[in-house]
Amino acid sequence: MKKLKVGIIGCGAIGSEIASACATLLKNNIELVALYDIDKEKSESLSRLVKKDVATDSEEALFGKSELIIEAASSRISREVVKKAVEKSKDIMVMSVGGLIESENLLEEARIKNIKVYFPSGAICGIDALKSAKISKIDKVTLTTKKPPKGLEGAPYLEEKNIDINSIRDEKVIFKGNALEAVKGFPKNVNVASLLSLAGIGAKNTTVEIVTSPKFTKNTHEIEIVGDFGRITTRTENVPFEKNPKTSKLAALSAIATLKGIVEGVKIGT
Ligand SMILES: NC(=O)c1ccc[n+]([C@@H]2O[C@H](COP(=O)([O-])OP(=O)(O)OC[C@H]3O[C@@H](n4cnc5c(N)ncnc54)[C@H](O)[C@@H]3O)[C@@H](O)[C@H]2O)c1
Repeated sequence: MKKLKVGIIGCGAIGSEIASACATLLKNNIELVALYDIDKEKSESLSRLVKKDVATDSEEALFGKSELIIEAASSRISREVVKKAVEKSKDIMVMSVGGLIESENLLEEARIKNIKVYFPSGAICGIDALKSAKISKIDKVTLTTKKPPKGLEGAPYLEEKNIDINSIRDEKVIFKGNALEAVKGFPKNVNVASLLSLAGIGAKNTTVEIVTSPKFTKNTHEIEIVGDFGRITTRTENVPFEKNPKTSKLAALSAIATLKGIVEGVKIGT
């Protein structure tokens, strides 16, 4: 059987996990053909780890070799990478969804050219039901993200509002606004808000609340969706990923499950 040729941009926590799965769990259906990282040492050591000589010197070379590109690098480049994929007629999977907020025009271009753009569910559950609900009418989508102070440190919103995150002693709502404002204020914590906006009713209509407490040990995402179908509430308690505590383990697993879904015939769930 012909294997799908996959190239990965970004060889950090998520990229490494996907590369390992390509070389083991998915090896009958997927051929890992290229790895690229801005830090050459990372792509080379991952290449050694998966026992494949696939580290490339440039994004350009990776695009040349791959049929499906997986972006697992940064929201600073994810929009550009999708643009390039659309130009070069390559399918693409995006992990740094934050960079694609309000990119409906670009995604429409991909649709017209029949380029497949995959956004794994990442660190949340409920996207399946949100997609179903969207077929009819949705009134409200609310995301409540609960993180320990460490997971929010350095966010521009905290500086702007003069919030000393490490002096907070009890559970506190530090932000409430729409997903677009959340992305600007907390650019490193935006993938979930961005994904919900894309799947649901858009960034301006999606409400985001960010809560912190030094007692929190997990990154928790609660989602409420209200529509003419009824009401859904979901809650995902994420274990931080050992390779990068800012990333949830489930996010890496969701990318691997999406890849599995692409190459397998039987599709379960929406
Ligand atoms: N969708 C989700 O739910 C979800 C969850 C967690 C993380 N993410 C996102 O996925 C991405 C990867 O996460 P991670 O935990 O693996 O991060 P990481 O920091 O462990 O790894 C990122 C890697 O990308 C490389 N990189 C950075 N800029 C690059 C560039 N311009 N070109 C090539 N390589 C570059 C870095 O050197 C690093 O090795 C991040 O943007 C993160 O925000 C998404």
